[in-house]
Amino acid sequence: MSKTIQPLEWVDDLRLGDYSLDNHTKEFLRFANVFIDAKNVGNGEEQLDNVLNHLTEYSHKHFPPQEDLMERIKYPSLDEHKTDHKKFNLGVAKLLKKRLLLKRANVPADEYDERGVDGVLTDIADFITDWYHSHMLGADKRLSDYYNYEYKE
Ligand SMILES: [Fe+2]
Repeated sequence: MSKTIQPLEWVDDLRLGDYSLDNHTKEFLRFANVFIDAKNVGNGEEQLDNVLNHLTEYSHKHFPPQEDLMERIKYPSLDEHKTDHKKFNLGVAKLLKKRLLLKRANVPADEYDERGVDGVLTDIADFITDWYHSHMLGADKRLSDYYNYEYKE
């Protein structure tokens, strides 16, 4: 039995103060929690494609406008923040590859994940919760503090 994962909560620290960027964050929490709930009751596989599609869509939708905002306000940690976004994209690409390898027969032994689908589901859950704690409540929160309290038009 795999461990129960805590759902991700909307907290005020996540608020940037930009309507559409904040909505992307809320959407992330929504689809992440659908996946987490499903995984917790053993139905994670049903959400596998859904969550991977959402993760891809989130990055396409959220990163470019957030990076534009950082450029506009001359955010001092822009490069560092962009590096995090690149790491997210690389992480999603790795998860998509793992998912693809599950589907194919004759996967080379060195590429085959012995944990099978449960392993991929666990990796996705870890990836999502890590992003929430380290990026959303870390880098995004620091951006929010700068934007709301330090930046002057
Ligand atoms: Fe970000």
